[in-house]
Amino acid sequence: MSEEPTPPLDPMSLRLAAANALIRRRRTIKPRDMSDKPVEPKVLAAILENGNWAPTHGMTEPWRFFVFTGEGRQRLADFCANLYEKITPKDQVRPDKLEKLKTQPLLAPVVIAIGMKRQEIEKIPEIEEVEAVACAVQNMHLTASAVGMAAFWSSPPISYTDEMRSWLGLSDERDKCLGFFYLGWPESEEWPESTRGDITEKVTMVAN
Ligand SMILES: Cc1cc2nc3c(=O)[nH]c(=O)nc-3n(C[C@H](O)[C@H](O)[C@H](O)COP(=O)(O)O)c2cc1C
Repeated sequence: MSEEPTPPLDPMSLRLAAANALIRRRRTIKPRDMSDKPVEPKVLAAILENGNWAPTHGMTEPWRFFVFTGEGRQRLADFCANLYEKITPKDQVRPDKLEKLKTQPLLAPVVIAIGMKRQEIEKIPEIEEVEAVACAVQNMHLTASAVGMAAFWSSPPISYTDEMRSWLGLSDERDKCLGFFYLGWPESEEWPESTRGDITEKVTMVAN
């Protein structure tokens, strides 16, 4: 008895499968789980370029990226640790948090500080500029995961300070730092899994 051949997938199902694979493969992999394999400039450029293709209301393209590599990561780590000590009341300084700020940037070959440049005329609401930057980070994260890279969006409270913003060179007080995007290659060959709650609990259908 011969087996029936599996019918080929229709084009829509194929495209959907490709989108599902890309989106569901995106994973947070933290610097402590990154190897010291360098990130080739060509790959980094491709990731940044995809960030640049995020949607943007009014074409303001508010994302700004500050890429720290090599010794630059040490400068970033020193600044972050000093800033944390400066703005935290002495009796509230957490040694584990301080240590993380000092060491984490050195565990990833690339750390990208994420900036939002506020539009001069403020025509577009600020929240939409932040949303556009988040879309840019998502584009970069999807690209990184697609090629098997480890990536992590970190947002310690120091990110949102004026000191951080201005140290990065975001000169307008309305600009913002939205955290750090760590990039590298995973140490493990095993790709991590994640879960999400039921989508039907987060959707309200209104048909009439
Ligand atoms: C805006 C933003 C900020 C984040 N900041 C942190 C952070 O400071 N620390 C952290 O552990 N994870 C942070 N994350 C990553 C989440 O922890 C991560 O996305 C979540 O655990 C789900 O895992 P997944 O990305 O693999 O799906 C952040 C994510 C977003 C979108």
